[in-house]
Amino acid sequence: MEKILVLDFGGQYNQLIARRVRDQGIYAEIKPYNKITVDEIKAQGYSGIIFTGGPNSVYDPESPHYDPAILDAGIPILGICYGCQLIAYMAGGRVESADDSSEYGKIDVYARSNVLFTDVPSKSVCWMSHHDFIPHPPKGFTTIAITDKCPVAAFCDEERKIYAVQFHPEVTHTEYGKDILRNFLYRICGCKGDWQMDSFIDSAVAEIRGQVGDSRVVLGLSGGVDSSVAAALISKAIGKRLTCVFIDHGLMRKDEGDFVEQTFTQLFDMNFVRLNCQDRFLSKLKGVTEPETKRNIIGEEFYNAFFGYIRESEKSCCFAQGTIYPDRIESGKGDAAKIKTHHNLVNPPKDIKFEKIIEPLRDLFKDEVRAVGEKLGLPKELVWRQPFPGPGMGVRVIGEVTAERVRILQDADAILRDEMDRCGYAEKMSQFFAVLPGVKTVGVMGDERTYSELVAIRAVTTDDFMTADWAQIPYDILGRVSNRIINEVDKVNRVVYDITSKPPGTVEWE
Ligand code: XMP
Repeated sequence: MEKILVLDFGGQYNQLIARRVRDQGIYAEIKPYNKITVDEIKAQGYSGIIFTGGPNSVYDPESPHYDPAILDAGIPILGICYGCQLIAYMAGGRVESADDSSEYGKIDVYARSNVLFTDVPSKSVCWMSHHDFIPHPPKGFTTIAITDKCPVAAFCDEERKIYAVQFHPEVTHTEYGKDILRNFLYRICGCKGDWQMDSFIDSAVAEIRGQVGDSRVVLGLSGGVDSSVAAALISKAIGKRLTCVFIDHGLMRKDEGDFVEQTFTQLFDMNFVRLNCQDRFLSKLKGVTEPETKRNIIGEEFYNAFFGYIRESEKSCCFAQGTIYPDRIESGKGDAAKIKTHHNLVNPPKDIKFEKIIEPLRDLFKDEVRAVGEKLGLPKELVWRQPFPGPGMGVRVIGEVTAERVRILQDADAILRDEMDRCGYAEKMSQFFAVLPGVKTVGVMGDERTYSELVAIRAVTTDDFMTADWAQIPYDILGRVSNRIINEVDKVNRVVYDITSKPPGTVEWE
């Protein structure tokens, strides 16, 4: 299989670059610049390498550098932003710093006729974000694009197939970014485009059969996109030798547990086990209000319930997880500070020895996982589900989690979803849900004074959930949601809308 290496120098767009490459039908993987040597790169048989951007200046003592021998490895290279400056620096050229040469945002770029710019107009808008600039191309390289401020916006050595662009072709603001990447991949690297989801399914099924042999597989199904697609894929490979264990902690959205059960028992050939653990979770959460403690309890109970079942029922088998590529990418700039505990990946307890760990989605991005899910026949509402935190309503019922408070929140949330679906607004938002903040307020209903729960509505738009804007839902929709919640949900007398972006707020309230 053809593959492209995205060599990560700490840029914020590293995953986006890999996704854009895969959108063009070529497999891309991301490696931190300091975790792979030139010899390892050569041995891996990459068709091309992309150097990502990064926050540094090439002259910073701390800035990431790379072995210049890579320029003579005979593998086509495309450097982007910092990656472009690094190529200039490694090739013996100069990179300078000047305030009046900084460019941020949409900039007109004038390109010369060159294979990288095939089908790109001589003047087009590109997205720039740089302070340092390259005054002249390094020796042996030719300038192939300029801007009004920068004498070198792109340069290349056609013979060695080394290309460098100061702008970001991976972002949508760069008008012809897709074409530029495509030219690099197909015309310069000579790729044919063999990364397609149909062929992925065929090869994944064959690989699962090979890994599992005559054995059996268990998988913890959460009802989220990743574990559901993994379940569907493994079911296609080995049918009833797959057991999916669905732990219903009672903290899912209204009727969601039944929906998951129906989907998997009716559409797929597998052994489906539903463990109804609602009481067990609630009793552990009794009296607990601190958010991290709640998360830890829910994570721990999940673990105990799942592995407790394995201990009792599955003597010898393989263990499958819905790990996806972003779960295991190491960053070129170190891990961001942890804000909240997320329980996505599980290490089995020491006393349970699985024959093998099966992770059939380990190389896929989320949009690829969804494409595979659709091809496998999973319902759209499951494949296009919004993210839902592992601890579920447990972190949306603020304060103590009781059966009654979960019921109130599930009812309010179901109304919100229903209204959003009816007006077609659901698809315009990345995520929306109701929260029960644990605040009681005074109200009047009929002639009576009430003192009841407040419900908050949270809705955000975002590309990556690292930052998010609050969604500007029209007032009439918010009005209908509020009326219905107050009229239809017992013990609620007030609804508010959360207008906090992230940062400073997080998407979830706990
Ligand atoms: P925050 O609240 O950190 O959420 O801004 C960002 C995104 O992550 C989801 N989220 C979780 N997902 N396990 C998950 O799998 C968790 O514990 C968890 N907590 C938050 C959240 O819904 C949002 O989409």
